[in-house]
Amino acid sequence: MMIPVTCRIGLQVSFLLLLIGQTHGRVTAPARLKAPVDKPFTLTCTLSKDRGETLREVRWLDDKNQTLLSYQPGNRDSVSGQQHVELATSPKDSSAITIRRVGFRDEGCYTCIFELTPSGSKQGQTCLTVDAEVTSERNKTAVSGKKASLSCSFGLPEKVQQILWKLTPAQGESKEVASFAKRSDPMIEPAYQGRVWLSASLSDSQLTIQPVAIQDEGCYTCFYETHNEGTKSSVVCLSTYVLPKPQVSYKTTSPGVIEANCTSVSRPPAEIVWNVETDNRTIGPPVSVHLRQDDGTTLVISTLTVQSGLLKDVSVKCLVHHKGLETPIAVSMNTKIGTALTILISVTTVAALLVMSLCFCLWKCFLRKEDN
Ligand SMILES: *[C@@H]1O[C@H](CO)[C@@H](O)[C@H](O)[C@H]1NC(C)=O
Ligand SMILES: *[C@@H]1O[C@H](CO)[C@@H](O)[C@H](O)[C@H]1NC(C)=O
Ligand SMILES: *[C@@H]1O[C@H](CO)[C@@H](O)[C@H](O)[C@H]1NC(C)=O
Ligand SMILES: *[C@@H]1O[C@H](CO)[C@@H](O)[C@H](O)[C@H]1NC(C)=O
Repeated sequence: MMIPVTCRIGLQVSFLLLLIGQTHGRVTAPARLKAPVDKPFTLTCTLSKDRGETLREVRWLDDKNQTLLSYQPGNRDSVSGQQHVELATSPKDSSAITIRRVGFRDEGCYTCIFELTPSGSKQGQTCLTVDAEVTSERNKTAVSGKKASLSCSFGLPEKVQQILWKLTPAQGESKEVASFAKRSDPMIEPAYQGRVWLSASLSDSQLTIQPVAIQDEGCYTCFYETHNEGTKSSVVCLSTYVLPKPQVSYKTTSPGVIEANCTSVSRPPAEIVWNVETDNRTIGPPVSVHLRQDDGTTLVISTLTVQSGLLKDVSVKCLVHHKGLETPIAVSMNTKIGTALTILISVTTVAALLVMSLCFCLWKCFLRKEDN
């Protein structure tokens, strides 16, 4: 029973040491910190002063022992230093500086030096690691045959050695699609060559697929392999749509009764409704059947039975709703449109005839004048 207890005490001690961080003399500062890229970051050192000591000056040095900032406490005008850092407010007997926007170059160890009279200088040190996460855009949808672009970004391209894109389909194994390594050209896996492109960038990586196929559907993971931070990744999923091209057919099944079919092949399956579903001249509600096709699309047939009299009064339409369409596609099955078309053709024909006879008249008049 003795050993575990000692262990626990040992652990607690090391945990405490970790909390306090490095102590040089009587200056405490966290030993290691992670700073997110492109954001401001504040470093703090705390001094424990003895009675009779006065703090004359504080200096902050960067990784190369260059002065970043120095000042005399209580004297705002004495602050001098580099552009990219500023003095932050801090409690008494401590000092804090803010790096306005952390970049890759800010990685390294920072030293704070407190000049005291009469005891001399005391210093502390904090080492900064610049950190970033991979971000990707929202899930995407693409229409089969068109183009799809997927992208990921990472704010520290200096740390990246290679970017790898993998596809995990809904069913089946993950497979590599493309990669791009520092000082080389983007590599596309043989199965995707001529159809997939990858940008030559270690920060903003864009995978373009054209034309998109149904098999391209799935979740794409972009892996950023870095020098020291391991591999970071993000996922973006792609759905492939096949848009419907609906058709209507109908036949008379018994005297005065018409059966109409509205058919649509799409991915995902379309939803079909009829504009006359509430009319009392329909015989029962429409009946839909879904038939999965081998290529991943679904054939939907909606069958509506109506009394033939309905077609004379109203334009019967099937409305096909699909996620890939902003507005549903309407397909008319009857004569209302037919009548409109007939009127249009008649009007055009009459107009054409009028114009022709006018021309003929003018020509006649003109010729007569010539003769005279
Ligand atoms: C900075 O100064 C410390 C002593 O104060 C020294 O140990 C260190 O090597 C110096 N670093 C550089 C990069 O000159
Ligand atoms: C993206 O799609 C996947 C699978 O289709 C889903 O699990 C995930 O929650 C989606 N993410 C977002 C942000 O919508
Ligand atoms: C409508 O579709 C069904 C199959 O669901 C078929 O049996 C019927 O013959 C079709 N009717 C017409 C008018 O095309
Ligand atoms: C349908 O309803 C209307 C009233 O909305 C009525 O006048 C008509 O007779 C009804 N037709 C049939 C076939 O029931």
